[in-house]
Amino acid sequence: MKLVMLGPPGAGKGTQAKRLAKALDIPHLSTGDMLRDAVARATDLGRQAEGYMSKGELLPDDVIVGIMGDALAESRCVKGFLLDGFPRTMAQAEALDQLLESRGDRLDLVPLLAVGEEELVKRLLGRARLEGRADDTEDVIRRRLEIYTAQTKPLAAYYRGCGVLSEIAGEGTPDEVYERLESVVKAQVA
Ligand code: AP5
Ligand code: MG
Repeated sequence: MKLVMLGPPGAGKGTQAKRLAKALDIPHLSTGDMLRDAVARATDLGRQAEGYMSKGELLPDDVIVGIMGDALAESRCVKGFLLDGFPRTMAQAEALDQLLESRGDRLDLVPLLAVGEEELVKRLLGRARLEGRADDTEDVIRRRLEIYTAQTKPLAAYYRGCGVLSEIAGEGTPDEVYERLESVVKAQVA
């Protein structure tokens, strides 16, 4: 199955994607995790990414599309994948469609985790205390939310138009959210 997990910062994309990918036995590809790993290893990409990420800004589309094109070309992605954090702009969504189309493929399902802004900020500030992620400061969180609204939220309408969007209530415990997600995925498989 080929999925894109959509949702604002703090919605639980990573939390849910990890579990679902394991259950479906497909790779979980998180652009944020890949970029944080590159920053930690101080690679060329990491040095380029750090400035954008620390401000909550998006990296240029061509950089991200290049990385994801390489990742999706790996043999482990042939039977399916779960994308988390990509696509994030209309240009990225179109590039992904083209990439899949060129191999006779398409997305099966795009779950959108819906969570109110107050809860998002609360979760991310909570994570800042626990994990100290560099972009989990109040100012940068606000900027990430603004960018989500302006650049990523329009993807929901786009995928709805493609008939693959499924909105899921993302509040409640992680187990409760996973149950909702699982039932949407099962309905898709059936
Ligand atoms: P990315 O890493 O994708 O960050 P994000 O979208 O801001 O989302 P988060 O990872 O913060 O949230 P999440 O939805 O994964 O939630 P999580 O499960 O962690 O991107 C980071 C940066 O990289 C971007 O700002 C950009 O600079 C760059 N980048 C990445 N992709 C890019 C792209 N395609 N193009 C350009 N630039 C790109 O949960 C959050 C917290 O809440 C955790 O502490 C978790 O434990 C907790 N939690 C989860 N579920 C629940 C629940 N149900 N109840 C209570 N707490 C919960
Ligand atoms: Mg994440």
